Amino acid sequence: MELLQISGGRRLEGSLKIQGAKNSVLPILAASLISGAVSVIENCPALRDVEASAAILRHLGCTLRREGSTLIVDSGPVDRCDVPDALMREMRSSVLFLGAVLTRTGCASLSLPGGCELGPRPIDLHLSGLEAMGAEITREGSELHCSTAGLRGCEIQLAIPSVGATENLMLAACRAEGTTVIRNAAREPEIVDLQEFLRAMGASVRGAGSATVEVEGGRHLTDCRHAVLGDRIAAATYLAAAAAAGGDVEIRGVSYRHLSTVTGIFSEAGCHVCSETDSVRLRSRGRLRSVGPVHTAPYPGFPTDAQAPVMAALAGSLGETVFVENIFSDRYRHVRELRRLGADIRTEGRVAVVHGVPYLHGARVRATDLRGGAGLVVAALSAVGGSEITGLEHIDRGYEKMEAALAALGADVRRTDTE
Ligand code: UD1
Repeated sequence: MELLQISGGRRLEGSLKIQGAKNSVLPILAASLISGAVSVIENCPALRDVEASAAILRHLGCTLRREGSTLIVDSGPVDRCDVPDALMREMRSSVLFLGAVLTRTGCASLSLPGGCELGPRPIDLHLSGLEAMGAEITREGSELHCSTAGLRGCEIQLAIPSVGATENLMLAACRAEGTTVIRNAAREPEIVDLQEFLRAMGASVRGAGSATVEVEGGRHLTDCRHAVLGDRIAAATYLAAAAAAGGDVEIRGVSYRHLSTVTGIFSEAGCHVCSETDSVRLRSRGRLRSVGPVHTAPYPGFPTDAQAPVMAALAGSLGETVFVENIFSDRYRHVRELRRLGADIRTEGRVAVVHGVPYLHGARVRATDLRGGAGLVVAALSAVGGSEITGLEHIDRGYEKMEAALAALGADVRRTDTE
C-alpha cells in the first residue's frame, strides 16, 4: 500500500509552476472526440483521471500519444459508442463523454458514473438537455442507452449552473444542427478554457464565462492545438499549505483572478498576498487568524474544491471560522481525519465550525476523496511531528506528483510503498 510520510512544521519556500487544470483537461479530452481530427493538448497533467479518460478514448477507437506534457489525440478512427462500466466507474467526469459520443456517432451506451463520494450526484440536467436537443434516452438499471437521428440546437435553461452539464451540452451542440443557447450556464474558468479549445478546432462558441453560452452547430472541425489552463485548485492547495506551515511561496502559471476568493481568505487570515497577471505569491508568518464565514458557491464564488484545503489551513488558526458547503451535501468527510490530527471541528448538515487549536499533531490518516485528501496533506505539513496518509489513489486523481511539488518547496514528504 502506498502512503505519504510527512514530517510537519517546515516552512515552505520557493517558486512552483502549477500543473494543467484537471477540470479543464477532462472536458477537453472528451471534446477531442467530436472533431474526428488530431488534437494536440499541451500542459496536460499526468493524473489518474487523465489516464481514465485516455482509456475511454482508446476504447472508442482513438489513438493517443504522449510527448512530455503534450497529449496528442487522433479521434479519426472512432468506431464504437459504448463505454464499459469499469471505465465509467473510474471517475464521475466520464459522464462528459455522453454528449461527445452521442453527437459524434449518433448513439451512446454507458453506465452511470462513479467519482468522489460527496453525496448524491445526479445527472438529470445533462440528460434533459440532451433530450431537448433530440436525444432519445432509455435507462435500464444503471445503464443508459442514448440515440439520435441528429441533434438539433435549442434553448436550454439549466436549473442549476452545473459545470458538467454546461460542458456536456456545449460538446453536443458543436455538431448539432442550428444554434444552441445554454442559459444559467456555469461560469467557471474551465468552461472558458473548453470554449477556447472548441474554437481552436473550428467550432463557433461564445459567451463562456457568462451565464449564457451560445453554440452554432455544424461547423467543419479540424486539427487543433491548445494549452490547458493552470489549475486554480491545485494552486489554492499549495497556497493553503504555505499559509498553514508558514513560508514564502510563488505559484506560477495560474491567473490571480481565478483565485481571488481563496487569496482573499488568506489575506484576511494574516498572510501577505501579491499577484501578477499569471502568478500569485503568498507569505505567511506566525499563526493564522480566523476569518469571516466561508460559503462555497458556483464561480465566481468560493470554490467547493478549495473548501477542504482551506479548512485544513485554518484548523490551527486563532479563533473560530464557519464554513457553509452549498454545492455538495456530503463534503465534510475529511473532518473526521482532521480531528485525528488534533483539529477541533464540529459539523452539522452543511455547516462546519472550526475552532482553531494552538497546534496540530502528526497522525495516521486516510484520504477518502480527492480534495479532502489534499486537505489532510495541508494539515500534516503544518502539524508537529510525523504523519502517514493513505488513500493516495484519491489524491492522484487530481494532483500531479504532489510529493515532488511539495518537496521542491522544502517540505519533508516522501511517498513509500509498504508492500
Ligand atoms: C465539477 C468539477 C468538480 C467541482 C464541481 C463544482 C469537473 C471535472 N469537476 O463537477 O471538481 O467540485 O464542478 O464546482 O469539472 N447537479 C444536479 N443535476 C445535474 C448536475 C449537477 O443536481 O444534472 C448538482 C450536483 O449534485 C451538485 C451541483 O449541481 O450539487 C453542482 O454540480 P456540477 O457543477 O455539475 O459539478 P460537476 O460538473 O460534477
